[in-house]
Amino acid sequence: MAESMRGLHRSHRCTEVSNKNIGETVTVMGWVQKRRNLGSLIFIDLRDRSGILQLVFNEDTVGKEGYEKAERLRSEFVIAVTGKVEKRSAAVNENLATGDIEVIASDIRILSESETPPFQIEENSQTKDDIRLKYRYLDLRRPDIQKNLMLRSKVANLMRQFMMNEGFLEIETPMLCKSTPEGARDYLVPSRVHPGHFYALPQSPQLYKQLLMCSGYDRYFQIARCFRDEDLRADRQPEFTQADMELSFVDVEDVLEVNERLLKYIFKEAIGVDVQLPLPRMPWQEAMDRFGSDKPDTRFGMELQDVSDVVKGCGFSVFTSALENGGSVRGINAKGQATMPRKKIDKLVEFAKGYGAKGLAYLAVNEDGTYKSSFAKFMTEEELKALVAAMDGQPGDLLLFAADKNKIVWNVLGALRLELAKELDLLDPNQYNFLWVTEFPLLEWSDEENRFMAMHHPFTMPMEEDWDKIDTDPGAVRAKAYDIVLNGTELGGGSVRIHQDDIQEKMFEVLGFTKERAHEQFGFLLDAFKYGVPPHAGLAYGLDRLVMHMVHAESIRDVIAFPKVKDASCLMTKAPGIVDEKQLEELNIKTLEVEEEE
Ligand code: AMO
Ligand code: AMP
Repeated sequence: MAESMRGLHRSHRCTEVSNKNIGETVTVMGWVQKRRNLGSLIFIDLRDRSGILQLVFNEDTVGKEGYEKAERLRSEFVIAVTGKVEKRSAAVNENLATGDIEVIASDIRILSESETPPFQIEENSQTKDDIRLKYRYLDLRRPDIQKNLMLRSKVANLMRQFMMNEGFLEIETPMLCKSTPEGARDYLVPSRVHPGHFYALPQSPQLYKQLLMCSGYDRYFQIARCFRDEDLRADRQPEFTQADMELSFVDVEDVLEVNERLLKYIFKEAIGVDVQLPLPRMPWQEAMDRFGSDKPDTRFGMELQDVSDVVKGCGFSVFTSALENGGSVRGINAKGQATMPRKKIDKLVEFAKGYGAKGLAYLAVNEDGTYKSSFAKFMTEEELKALVAAMDGQPGDLLLFAADKNKIVWNVLGALRLELAKELDLLDPNQYNFLWVTEFPLLEWSDEENRFMAMHHPFTMPMEEDWDKIDTDPGAVRAKAYDIVLNGTELGGGSVRIHQDDIQEKMFEVLGFTKERAHEQFGFLLDAFKYGVPPHAGLAYGLDRLVMHMVHAESIRDVIAFPKVKDASCLMTKAPGIVDEKQLEELNIKTLEVEEEE
C-alpha cells in the first residue's frame, strides 16, 4: 500500500547531503536504484535528479516494521527516508558525490511501488532507441538525460538573463499563423470556423519579429517553438526551439557584437569554457573554396585545393571534360595516408558517390617517390609532378580529387574531409571552434523551380556593394546574412532585413513573384513598412543544437524531453493518430482512404 506524504518534508536532495551534515537528521525522497542485503543490514542506493545517496537499514534503528519495508523494496520504488548522516563505515566510494557518507534510516515510507521496468535506469544505457522512446518517461530518469535537460534549462535561463540585461523584451508571437511559401513545408491546422481554411504552425517568428520592430519594440527576444515538415536527420526535429532575436537601428556589426558576448557568457557560465573574442569570420566564398562547406569545421586542416589550372591541358579526360563543362577539379591531401589499403580507398569512392560524385580520383605518393594512382597512366610525368606540388604532396600522402560542377565538388570533398577526420580521429570534442560565415549569396538557382530562390529568406538585404548587380547578375549578389558555426554545425543564422520598398519589390521580382502574389502572401508586412520602419536585423539560434554541442550529444533527441523519431511520429503517445469522424466533420474535412498499417 502506498503511503502518503502527511507530515513529511524533504530536507535535502540526495547529493545535497554531504559530510558537513554528519550527525544531523535528514529526510530524503526518491527512487530505489539498488538494494543489497548484507546479513542483518540492508543497503539502498537512493536516486533523485541530483544523484545517488546510500541509505542503511538495520532493525535496531529503523524498527521491525521499517526493516520489513526495506526488505520489500525493489528497483524504482519511490520512498521517503528519515535518518542520521554518518561517515561511511565501509569503503568510501569515490565515484559518488556522497561516497564518504551514508544515512542510517530511522523511518521509512513507501510512497509508491514499481513494476519491474522494461530496462535498467542507468547511465549510457545500451537499450535500443525504440524501447527507450516508447517508455520515454523511464528513459528520462536516466542520469545522463537528466543532466542534459538540466543544462538545457540553465542555458535558456542564462540567455534570458543576458538578453534582459541588454535591453531585449521577451514577447510571444502566435502559433496559429498564415501559411507562407518559401522555406520548408508547413504544418497545417484546419480552421473549424472557416471551412476549407488553414492556419500554419510557424517555421520561425520571422515576420512577427519584423513587425515588432515596425511597432517600435526596438529589441525583441523569444525562446520560440518552430515547426518544419522536413526530412529528419541527427540534428533536426519537426518541432524545435529557437532562441530568436531582432534589433532595430543596427547593421551587421551590431548583431555580431552582441551575439559574441552572449556566446561567451553562456559557454562560460554553463560549461566553463572560455570563448576568445572576437570570433573569426569568413566570407561564404572562402568557406566553400577552402572547406567545401558553408559550415566548416575548422578544428583540423585538410583544406580543399583548386587544381583546375594545373590540370587544364592534361590527358585525363575526367578532369578536362569537367573543366570544359564549366566545373572545377579540386583535391584534398590526406597526410600520411598513402598506405591506405585499396579496400578502404574504394569505400571512400563509394562515400563520395553518395554525395553526388561520379567518381573519386586518387594518387598516393609512395615513400620512394613513385605513385599509386587511379589516373596516373593518363598523365605525363611532368603533369603529375605539377599536380602533386600544387597539393603540397609529400612522400606518404594520399591525394583525393573530385572533378565536376563546383557545387558537387564542394559537397563531395567537404563531406569527405569530415569523414576522413572522423576516421583519423582528428576531432577534439573539447575544442570549440566558432566561426561567423558571412556574405552569403542572396539567391540560389533552383533547377527544380527554374527560378532563383532566396538563400535565407526574401527579406534579407543585399550588400550595398552589389546592389547594381541585382538586374544584371542576380546570382552574384551577396547578402547581409550571417551564420554562426560551431565545429561544423550551423548553430544559428540571421540577416539584416530589407526595409526599403524599392529593394523589397526588386527582390520579389527576382524571385518571380508578381506584385499581386507578393501582396497576397506578405501584404501585411509590406503595408506595415509604409508607416515608418526602422532598419532592423536579427538572428536565431537552434537551442537544441546549441545544447547538443555543450553536452556532446550525438542525437538531438538526447536534449529534447519528448522527441519525435525519423518518420516524425512519437513512439510514446503514438502521435500522429487517426481522429474521430465527428472531429473531421466539424472541420469540414474528408480524408482519402489510406491503408491502415499494422
Ligand atoms: P534558420 O532557418 O537558419 O533561420 O533557423 C535558425 C536555426 O534554427 C535551427 N534549426 C533547427 N534545429 C532543429 N531542427 C530543425 N528542423 C531546425 N531547423 C533550423 C538551426 C538554425 O541555424 N528566421 C530565421 C532567423 C533570422 O533570420 O533571424 C531562421 O529561422 O540551428
Ligand atoms: P574511369 O576512367 O571512369 O575508370 O575513372 C578513372 C578514375 O577517375 C577512377 O578512379 C574514378 O573513380 C575517377 N573518376 C571518375 N569520375 C570522376 C570525377 N568526376 N571526379 C573525380 N574522379 C573521377
